[in-house]
Amino acid sequence: AAKQTLAVIGGDGIGPEVVAEGLKVLTATVGDAAFDLVPYDLGAQRWQRTGEVLPDSVLEELRGVDAIVLGAVGAAPGSTAIPSGLLERGLLLKLRFAFDQYVNLRPSKLYPGVVTPLSDAVVGRGPIDFVVVREGVEGLYAGVGGSMATGTAFEVANEVSVNTARGVERVVRDAFERALRRRKKVTLVHKHNVLVNAGGLWNRLFTAVAQEYPDVTTDYLHVDATMIMLVQDPQRFDVIVTDNLFGDIITDLAGAVTGGIGLSPSACINPEGTNPSMFEPVHGSAPDIAGQGVADPTATISSMALLLDHLGRPEDAARIETAVDADVAERGASRRSTSAIGDAIAARV
Ligand code: NAD
Ligand code: IPM
Ligand code: MN
Repeated sequence: AAKQTLAVIGGDGIGPEVVAEGLKVLTATVGDAAFDLVPYDLGAQRWQRTGEVLPDSVLEELRGVDAIVLGAVGAAPGSTAIPSGLLERGLLLKLRFAFDQYVNLRPSKLYPGVVTPLSDAVVGRGPIDFVVVREGVEGLYAGVGGSMATGTAFEVANEVSVNTARGVERVVRDAFERALRRRKKVTLVHKHNVLVNAGGLWNRLFTAVAQEYPDVTTDYLHVDATMIMLVQDPQRFDVIVTDNLFGDIITDLAGAVTGGIGLSPSACINPEGTNPSMFEPVHGSAPDIAGQGVADPTATISSMALLLDHLGRPEDAARIETAVDADVAERGASRRSTSAIGDAIAARV
């Protein structure tokens, strides 16, 4: 088979540290003949050096790759010189939007043996294994809004949540398709008791799409109650479908209750394959632990399984998943370095 090209954006903070381990495991799994790995120097340092966040020429080059691996972007340790959102919006969200990665897939499962803040009674109730299908290119992330009388006592600041019928229907449909391959349950999470316009649209389209999937059980929860259920009854979830911001918040809590954000992978998928999809951990650049070699690379390694699955290599993906399962089952509360975890998982694939 012809070599495929992977663009690699290590980014900032722990991003490059965890990406190195992800690529180590990827290469151990498929060898080095499968992919051309092309590093891209983007993030805080590039901006500080050149004032560039994501030049158009680089964006167009990335459009041609088979997939993108991203670590994290965001403020570097000690730096106060980077305006909040500059890299997040200008790089990460720009890629998600430009490549129409509208399915932001975020699986969560409680690995046996992992240390979790959940009570023994909750854990004892059975396996926790669900996936959040987060809408990736609309909602409050759309960048619609502005502020008036900025900096005065009369300031009015608006962020508008953009929800289109096409955008909502396609991601809801994706969630139902995934449910067919899982335990056949989809939970819509929103807050239509307050957000009547967007919530109404999501509700109507969710109900309409559900008619086409008579074998799939449906459920609705307000986002606030979802926080309770994630802690008290996470077994109730199979597929959660929700908007961009709710999905962001839900998946950090989902990570925390299933053993830590260092275990949570994600995939920003353009299902049509017109544009590259992007694979990245749910977590950020973690400036508080950057440079110490202590970040958990497991989330990035599991994201490589999502990448292989997306690129039509499900057996290779399963080998990474099995290796991660085995490593996590044995680690308990032991603390190893970032590279030691990468080495151990690479040795198992
Ligand atoms: P964060 O996810 O970077 O860190 C939150 C907490 O989790 C920190 O205590 C951190 O040490 C810990 N943590 C995160 N990843 C870990 C890992 N692999 N192993 C062990 N511990 C880990 O979130 P934050 O502190 O809110 O954000 C830091 C920066 O990252 C911000 O600039 C933010 O905008 C950015 N960010 C980027 C992405 C991304 O690029 N995908 C995602 C989230 C946040
Ligand atoms: C994530 C991050 C991003 C998001 C930020 C950094 C733009 O929190 O991937 O979860 O909100 O989507
Ligand atoms: Mn987030």
